Amino acid sequence: MEKKVAWLHKLWDLPPGLRMRSKYAFFLIFVVIVFVFIEKENKIISRVSGRLKQIPQPLVEANSTDPTLVLADNENASLLSLNKLNPAFTLLQSRLRNLSLQLDIRPAAKGQEPAGEDSREIAEQDFSHRRRHVLLMATTRTGSSFVGEFFNQHTNLFYLFEPLWHVERTVSFEAGGASAAGSALVYRDVLRQLFLCDLYVLEPFISPLPEDHQTQFLFRRGSSRSLCEEPVCTPFVKKVFEKYRCKSRQCGPLNVTLAAEACRRKDHMALKAVRFRQLEFLQPLAEDPRLDLRVIQLVRDPRAVLASRIVAFAGKYQSWKKWLAEGQDRLQEEEVQHLRGNCESIRKSAELGLKPPAWLRGRYMLVRYEDVAQRPLQKAREMFRFVGVPLTPQVEDWIRVNTQMAQDGAGFYSTRKNSSEQSEKWRLNMPFKLAQVVQAACGPAMRLFGYKLAQDAATLTNRSVSLLEERHTFWGT
Ligand SMILES: *[C@@H]1O[C@H](CO)[C@@H](O)[C@H](O)[C@H]1NC(C)=O
Ligand SMILES: *[C@@H]1O[C@H](CO)[C@@H](O)[C@H](O)[C@H]1NC(C)=O
Ligand SMILES: *[C@@H]1O[C@H](CO)[C@@H](O)[C@H](O)[C@H]1NC(C)=O
Ligand SMILES: *[C@@H]1O[C@H](CO)[C@@H](O)[C@H](O)[C@H]1NC(C)=O
Ligand SMILES: *[C@@H]1O[C@H](CO)[C@@H](O)[C@H](O)[C@H]1NC(C)=O
Ligand SMILES: *[C@@H]1O[C@H](CO)[C@@H](O)[C@H](O)[C@H]1NC(C)=O
Repeated sequence: MEKKVAWLHKLWDLPPGLRMRSKYAFFLIFVVIVFVFIEKENKIISRVSGRLKQIPQPLVEANSTDPTLVLADNENASLLSLNKLNPAFTLLQSRLRNLSLQLDIRPAAKGQEPAGEDSREIAEQDFSHRRRHVLLMATTRTGSSFVGEFFNQHTNLFYLFEPLWHVERTVSFEAGGASAAGSALVYRDVLRQLFLCDLYVLEPFISPLPEDHQTQFLFRRGSSRSLCEEPVCTPFVKKVFEKYRCKSRQCGPLNVTLAAEACRRKDHMALKAVRFRQLEFLQPLAEDPRLDLRVIQLVRDPRAVLASRIVAFAGKYQSWKKWLAEGQDRLQEEEVQHLRGNCESIRKSAELGLKPPAWLRGRYMLVRYEDVAQRPLQKAREMFRFVGVPLTPQVEDWIRVNTQMAQDGAGFYSTRKNSSEQSEKWRLNMPFKLAQVVQAACGPAMRLFGYKLAQDAATLTNRSVSLLEERHTFWGT
């Protein structure tokens, strides 16, 4: 609570220029406040919606840095929360608009206006119909940085690497079904602004707060080519500590205005996000006339994902490690629940995407990381075709170099460790009982994605046995 209050104070102390621009941030504050109250006060819940309190307890840990945003196991409950939250949210937006009018906060500059009455006009002025907005929707340890790089390497595409990282750190909702959905709504609306090249929307979430629209603290700036090339790369300033600096060269602090201009100049836009899971929340973006949304959902064998997370996020997976090391019979039930919740939220999004409602038709593609690892160029071509952006030689070259492929007359072959081999390494080291837990918790998701269950330890470690069912080469519509 204190952290949130401090954050709000920081916002109120902004210089007047920024405050106007932060009309949107202002609206986020409202959302935060309301959801905090929702957690504290059931009375408010009933005022907003008599049925919100039926939202079940979530499967998410309070302090998770990788919030799953799971709604519940129960499908009806998740529908309930979305249906009930959306009107509540719309009402808030309307109240906020009125409040901003009273406080005489002028609309943001053209093109930075959150979805509003005159949005269509902006669409026609600034955005051609051919501009694509790609969301690479994944979870941690699914190879999303690698796949994101396909888009990052495209010279005419503005790519951002995990911009929601800042939002997650600032708007830390406490556990609760309503709060999980609440943060998903905030994420979604930030995504929309980013797709519109309103990069200012991130500023209130960056800590320390940017001054004069300049910051040294944009998360993983170096992972976005567009933020490290001219003219966004301003001359290097000595003695200015840049936390996430460009790898290829030294640049001055990031000028958000220059970055936003670069975003508009490029023909297309792509974002990678491991913090946004709920495909159904994207309907307003898919229907926004200013956007032409394409969602690529990247999945990976949950056994491999868990094995990788236990190593990468050791602190968060202490109890798993203990369970593996000490040979106890039982793993804490909440850990299993959490795992199941993760798998189920991914599966539900995929099921929606594979049987898309009208608003999602032609906008969704499911990609398995294993297929990308086995046939990176082919999958890259499929993804770019789906997105409707021509694949460039630079992207192909990057893939060749980074998957250790070389070309001869007959096509591509691997030289050293090939990426397909790398993607299966987990099988050799995984204790069978760990695989069993995942298979029990994630069975439905594994069946949907074509990950075969291993019946015994020998099968798990025997690399001649494929755990991957063939699927259509192209899962999209
Ligand atoms: C969350 O963080 C607080 C304080 O940092 C800690 O006391 C608590 O145990 C944590 N809860 C979980 C579920 O990790
Ligand atoms: C959802 O609701 C329907 C009808 O109200 C009911 O038949 C079904 O069992 C419910 N599903 C779950 C998972 O509770
Ligand atoms: C906002 O103001 C309009 C016009 O004054 C009014 O009709 C509407 O009810 C107000 N909305 C809210 C949520 O107060
Ligand atoms: C950032 O770039 C804009 C656009 O070129 C410029 O007007 C502004 O002065 C720059 N900001 C700083 C702090 O240099
Ligand atoms: C990569 O390694 C796998 C497993 O060893 C092998 O089956 C496959 O043929 C190799 N791929 C290429 C392109 O050589
Ligand atoms: C691995 O699986 C293959 C194919 O099923 C089988 O022929 C082979 O004997 C197995 N290897 C081991 C070590 O079990």
